[in-house]
Amino acid sequence: MTQVTLILLGFLYLFRSVLSQNCTFNVHYVTKTSSFPTNCSQLIGRFRIDENSEISNDQLVALFKNVHSIRGVLQIWNTQLTSATFMRNIQNITGDPLDKGISILNNTRLASISLTSLKYSNGKVEIQNNPVLNLQKSCSVIHDVYFNRRSITGNLFDCGCEITGYFQWPKIKNFPENCIVVYGNIIMDGVAPPYNVLYRLATVTKLYGFISIQRTNLETLGFLQNLEDIESGVEAQNTIEIESNEYLGRLDLIRLRSVKSRNSDSDVRITSNEELCIDPSFIQLLAQSNIRYINQYSPLSYCELDKINNPSTYCTGKLSTINERCTRYIGDIIYSNPDIWDYSDINNYTKVPQNEIKKFQQFEIIFGSFVIEGSTLTNISMPNLREIYQVSAVYIGTSPLGLGVAMKFRRNDFLKEVSFPNLKISHNSILLYRNGNLSTDADFCKKMTDGRKRMTLLGLDSEYDCRAYL
Ligand SMILES: *[C@@H]1O[C@H](CO)[C@@H](O)[C@H](O)[C@H]1NC(C)=O
Ligand SMILES: *[C@@H]1O[C@H](CO)[C@@H](O)[C@H](O)[C@H]1NC(C)=O
Ligand SMILES: *[C@@H]1O[C@H](CO)[C@@H](O)[C@H](O)[C@H]1NC(C)=O
Ligand SMILES: *[C@@H]1O[C@H](CO)[C@@H](O)[C@H](O)[C@H]1NC(C)=O
Ligand SMILES: *[C@@H]1O[C@H](CO)[C@@H](O)[C@H](O)[C@H]1NC(C)=O
Ligand SMILES: *[C@@H]1O[C@H](CO)[C@@H](O)[C@H](O)[C@H]1NC(C)=O
Ligand SMILES: *[C@@H]1O[C@H](CO)[C@@H](O)[C@H](O)[C@H]1NC(C)=O
Repeated sequence: MTQVTLILLGFLYLFRSVLSQNCTFNVHYVTKTSSFPTNCSQLIGRFRIDENSEISNDQLVALFKNVHSIRGVLQIWNTQLTSATFMRNIQNITGDPLDKGISILNNTRLASISLTSLKYSNGKVEIQNNPVLNLQKSCSVIHDVYFNRRSITGNLFDCGCEITGYFQWPKIKNFPENCIVVYGNIIMDGVAPPYNVLYRLATVTKLYGFISIQRTNLETLGFLQNLEDIESGVEAQNTIEIESNEYLGRLDLIRLRSVKSRNSDSDVRITSNEELCIDPSFIQLLAQSNIRYINQYSPLSYCELDKINNPSTYCTGKLSTINERCTRYIGDIIYSNPDIWDYSDINNYTKVPQNEIKKFQQFEIIFGSFVIEGSTLTNISMPNLREIYQVSAVYIGTSPLGLGVAMKFRRNDFLKEVSFPNLKISHNSILLYRNGNLSTDADFCKKMTDGRKRMTLLGLDSEYDCRAYL
């Protein structure tokens, strides 16, 4: 009998050591008697420390001393632990499809955790209802590893506020005041929340998520007046989406200075807002950021100077009346006439007055389009132009110029030279059609496109980008 027991025990021991050697556990309730083989730097399984564990942080430190990686889940639930520094060597924790990677819930006395080595996790983190837990020292690690894959609420310090789901009354009636950092998306569809709740967002400077505002009754997004940085996650098809808000007149995102996405295909879509005008600095910001498209299909209009944030930095109106020192022009510069066809002789050449050439040559930034058709110019140079942004519905006579055509020169029969030595951003296309003796070879194509951002098309006597043929 004893022999049988011994043999059984022997088998059990063997079985356990085989399990241990490959460091695989299933669901493991950690207790004082738990032990992991010392050479297991990676553990596999779900490890739970809870109210029945009766284990101290010091004992946990010893137990997890050599653990650098957990393929699975670590749960700390309902314990009396005051600190959880035993996690400090863990670099990877994958999570599993059912659970969060790290889950720290309802620990009434837990004041600190240590995630100093954590570098990688494809799961989520959940840290909730630990009333004395201050996460301040872990904020940047949590941000780098999890970004917005997180539910962190109800702790002494949460590293930011969270929004889950729609920002809609009455669901968000307990959204806190004084949030500086928000994780989650600001999604509104339909009637906006009451003014006083909406303006709780007015302290937010960083949003880690996207903005989607559709079919609301809002007149302004001024409740985001302090928002400086937006960074959306990989799931964000649009980082900013503003559609069909019939009363929306202005965005008023006056402090916004950076718009990014972790999704390299993320767009900004602003469509069908009848009353809306756009501050030129907003378009400039979007084009300078790594946002892929701004409104590929739907035109916008720039605001009148009295609705712009820094009106004195721009000029607009007739070129002949523009101040000599103005370098940022809002408006379309168009020289054409109805007699300019692609193939027939020109009887009436377009005049480009000398004093206006001087004016447009002084511009560094143009918020509009630049078009010259049927002139007798032999060269067109814009020595100071750095950026041009065309987002409007522009007509030449009755023909649409085409959305995103920033510059177009056509039928300038004597044209030999075009130069924009300082042009960095062209939003978007530049088209050169049937201009006398202007070279359209590969060298010219290269010269025109080198060092330019956002130029989606350089058409040389063709609807196609010349770069495709290089
Ligand atoms: C590791 O342990 C598991 C027990 O869950 C077992 O199925 C597996 O075969 C073991 N692997 C090795 C390599 O020993
Ligand atoms: C741990 O050490 C034992 C005994 O030396 C060995 O059999 C086992 O393969 C080692 N396991 C790991 C994960 O290195
Ligand atoms: C953590 O995961 C990364 C990516 O999967 C891997 O390159 C690295 O070796 C892992 N580190 C540890 C300690 O398991
Ligand atoms: C944590 O506390 C909440 C609220 O008391 C409860 O609903 C939840 O089940 C608890 N979670 C765990 C893992 O015990
Ligand atoms: C010639 O073109 C100019 C615009 O450059 C236009 O104002 C004028 O009416 C045209 N004249 C004729 C005779 O078509
Ligand atoms: C053509 O080139 C000359 C000499 O560089 C310059 O002075 C003139 O402004 C240019 N004309 C246009 C229309 O760019
Ligand atoms: C191109 O230049 C040649 C020689 O300067 C000239 O004869 C010809 O008319 C020019 N072509 C056009 C379309 O202006």
